[in-house]
Amino acid sequence: MHKFDLKNRTAIITGGAQGFGLDIARRFLDSGAKVIIWDLDENLLKKVNDEIKNIDLSYFKVDVSNFGMVKETVEKITKNSNIDILINNAGITGPTLPLWEYDVSEWNNIINVNLIGTFNCCKAIVPSMMKNNYGRIVNVTSVAGKDGNANASAYSSAKAGAIGLTKSLGKELADKNIAVNAVTPAGAKTRILDQMSKEHVQRMLSKVPRGRFLELSEFTSLICWLSSEENSFSTAAVFDISGGRSTY
Ligand SMILES: NC(=O)c1ccc[n+]([C@@H]2O[C@H](COP(=O)([O-])OP(=O)(O)OC[C@H]3O[C@@H](n4cnc5c(N)ncnc54)[C@H](O)[C@@H]3O)[C@@H](O)[C@H]2O)c1
Repeated sequence: MHKFDLKNRTAIITGGAQGFGLDIARRFLDSGAKVIIWDLDENLLKKVNDEIKNIDLSYFKVDVSNFGMVKETVEKITKNSNIDILINNAGITGPTLPLWEYDVSEWNNIINVNLIGTFNCCKAIVPSMMKNNYGRIVNVTSVAGKDGNANASAYSSAKAGAIGLTKSLGKELADKNIAVNAVTPAGAKTRILDQMSKEHVQRMLSKVPRGRFLELSEFTSLICWLSSEENSFSTAAVFDISGGRSTY
């Protein structure tokens, strides 16, 4: 597999204990980066760390929806290291329900993790990237944020919000060597699918002209380029990886 040069780069990957985030962590380590994974699930973080056994891998238990926790962790990390790459990947879909049947706190929680979490991490980390005049931020959103999925109003809204955040922040930082981009994947086989009904997952898949799930390695390849120095021009942009589902 083609490799990008991430030597001497430190990356934070939120929601990195499994799924997309873990696949990105493995490829970043392979590409020479120091990788710090954040996740809510401490047991899984420990397990992954024990399995991978790489001196360049470390982890923190962080809830991205809690700004105090995010800020405190960033302060600890920046005492000893720059943060060059931020992958805002932590996310939840919530249950498959029409808007009027959604519990209010559940709806808010989905916004808090997917959208406010992305804001929290950017707010805490961007100042140190500005100081170093270097940064690559990738926000993992979803095709749901572009098209809107029925029975996923909170998730679609949160991901659409994260796309707006990307376009705005990318422009705010465009005069620096900091790129901020979003990606909009279609369905891939990770544990997140368990949060939705089987019918909903089938409906999502039926809309994908490629006619199959996205492979983790295909997704990670796009993330690697966006996170590398070679992406020196694209910013405030949205990169589609929906197998032909989205037409814009
Ligand atoms: N898999 C798909 O079909 C798909 C499609 C489009 C977009 N996405 C997006 O990709 C990202 C990764 O999803 P995945 O499929 O790997 O899911 P996953 O469930 O396998 O992994 C998500 C990880 O995020 C962590 N997490 C959840 N809430 C958190 C919080 N508040 N703070 C820190 N960590 C938290 C979870 O513990 C989990 O380890 C998500 O943002 C998701 O919305 C996934």
